[in-house]
Amino acid sequence: MSRPYVLLSAAVSIDGFLDTRPGEDRLMLSNPEDFDRVDSVRASVDAILVGAGTLRTDNPRLLVNSEERRAARVAAGRPEYPLKVTITGSGDLDPNWKFWHHGGGKLVLAVGQEAGRKARAALGDLAEIVVVPTEHTWPVALDVLGGSHGIHRLMVEGGGTIHTQLLEQALADELHLVIAPLLVGQSDAVRMLGPAHYLGGPTARLRLLETRQIGDVVLLRYAPKDISTEPR
Ligand SMILES: NC(=O)c1ccc[n+]([C@@H]2O[C@H](COP(=O)([O-])OP(=O)(O)OC[C@H]3O[C@@H](n4cnc5c(N)ncnc54)[C@H](OP(=O)(O)O)[C@@H]3O)[C@@H](O)[C@H]2O)c1
Repeated sequence: MSRPYVLLSAAVSIDGFLDTRPGEDRLMLSNPEDFDRVDSVRASVDAILVGAGTLRTDNPRLLVNSEERRAARVAAGRPEYPLKVTITGSGDLDPNWKFWHHGGGKLVLAVGQEAGRKARAALGDLAEIVVVPTEHTWPVALDVLGGSHGIHRLMVEGGGTIHTQLLEQALADELHLVIAPLLVGQSDAVRMLGPAHYLGGPTARLRLLETRQIGDVVLLRYAPKDISTEPR
């Protein structure tokens, strides 16, 4: 089966956090210029994926905000908005979240039958629900996206649980990491990446594709599968 090209995207503080501690107000890490860059990446993909944890915490819309970019998609014969995808193991999804009520198609990857049953009961026809297995969840989920849903390019916008799994399982093709000039300084804040056995272990060096200053933040683009033990 053909899996999509998987692009992970995140903004972190200098000390590696995605957000402050759970329960506090959402931390704005990036700047308007970089949000516009993220919008352009969204406009380039077929689907955007976030975990149910991010929906619960941030209640995002996840749209392509630029009218010109949406018009260009339509002119190119693509849907106005990318498909919006989330993954849940609990099935605890709130039908009032903005995610369901803006943009184009929505798809829930429900891990296990019980999650699928709960998601269907909660959402009705707000989203398509696809049940994926509790074993080999991510390879199967990517096969579903690339196969029956025709997704060639997938942008993953977090949170940390998902980024960690996709990097650990060597399923990410590209990582866009924005470093914001903030120091969170809370040991219980939300980390970008959890402990995991990453491809090649701690001595493996990811290939750096690009660095770009965007106002007061820096974008680092990496190819996570292209590793070496030597500096290059
Ligand atoms: N700075 C940034 O760029 C950025 C971007 C996105 C998010 N964030 C922050 O990240 C935080 C949320 O991150 P998070 O790690 O808590 O949540 P997350 O990665 O968004 O979602 C985790 C949830 O996804 C589901 N899930 C993921 N993998 C699964 C698997 N293999 N099997 C079954 N279910 C799976 C589970 O949902 P259920 O709980 O429903 O089972 C799990 O609790 C928030 O603070 C948010 O603000 C920051």
